[in-house]
Amino acid sequence: MDHAATGEQALAQIAAAQDLGALETLRVAFLGKQGSISGLLKTLGAMSPDERQRIGPQIHALRESVTEALAARKDALESAALALRLASETVDLTLPAPEAPRGSIHPVSQVMDELAEIFADMGFSVATGPEIEDDWHNFTALNIPESHPARAMHDTFYFPDKDGDGRAMLLRTHTSPVQIRAMLDQGAPIRIIAPGRVYRSDSDATHTPMFHQIEGLVIDRGIHLGHLKWTLETFLKAFFERDDIVLRLRPSYFPFTEPSVEVDVGYARDNGAVGGSGDEPGRGWMEVLGSGMVNRKVIAAGGLDPDEWQGFAFGTGVDRLAKLKYGMEDLRAFFDGDARWNRHYGFNPNDVPTLSGGVGTAA
Ligand code: PHE
Repeated sequence: MDHAATGEQALAQIAAAQDLGALETLRVAFLGKQGSISGLLKTLGAMSPDERQRIGPQIHALRESVTEALAARKDALESAALALRLASETVDLTLPAPEAPRGSIHPVSQVMDELAEIFADMGFSVATGPEIEDDWHNFTALNIPESHPARAMHDTFYFPDKDGDGRAMLLRTHTSPVQIRAMLDQGAPIRIIAPGRVYRSDSDATHTPMFHQIEGLVIDRGIHLGHLKWTLETFLKAFFERDDIVLRLRPSYFPFTEPSVEVDVGYARDNGAVGGSGDEPGRGWMEVLGSGMVNRKVIAAGGLDPDEWQGFAFGTGVDRLAKLKYGMEDLRAFFDGDARWNRHYGFNPNDVPTLSGGVGTAA
């Protein structure tokens, strides 16, 4: 048998192996348990000492060279594969980093955070009440008795009157019931704001059946209209981040305040920018909130003595404030849940509103 020829053939096959799988097949064929070279080694035992002395080294040399060739080819195939990968997977470090996925803060949440920050600075804390309210807190305690026309004006969503006691539960139509809850829970003095969802059966471009209000309530001794005016002026200047906010107070009517005051701010008709008097040409007044001195009957319904405690209250639409400040057109889009809208109008979650850093830094 010509071991030199066998060796040459094996080395040629190894050199021609195109991938690691083919190489492994060859290794098994030569050196595996049933392999041809392993078979040759087994023949040594049956040889005469002379033969073994002559042929043994040839077989061992054959095994040696095939083992080396297999290792060398394996190395070569592996580095070729690596080179190919490196060539195909180039990294261009000058490219801009891909944008990390991130959420954004809805303008309503943003404005609520801004309001909480502004009022916290004036010593107000945040109070809440249930969205499913009873008739008494939403109406009666606020001096809106059963027959009062204001009930019809509120377009209330009532729940079916299960108990049949004529006192159906309802979805609160405003945040004012939190005034009553705060007085009954905390007693006086009080300085709170109460932001939250409210509901009215009404829907068009400027009304949605669910919207957001923020209520403010101050109860203390000797509170008068001057305190109300100063508070609203300070709040609106901080919110719109301008010093030239001009307020116009108009006499109005709410059953739960006496006297009642509606508050307008001046704005420019061409760009809607809030600030300055509304009386100049090209300018107008825009209603931003309802307010007044808390009605004596309401203070009494809150369990306090109206001869000892006075207060003022105000309420305004958070969605409307957001629209005014950030210029959105259609209120309905606020609640469509369209991620593109929120990406466009939303705020960077890392920009927490602070009075020092600016309460309304856009994303
Ligand atoms: N609750 C009133 C509304 O929803 C707003 C308001 C609150 C008015 C507090 C006066 C005082 O329109």
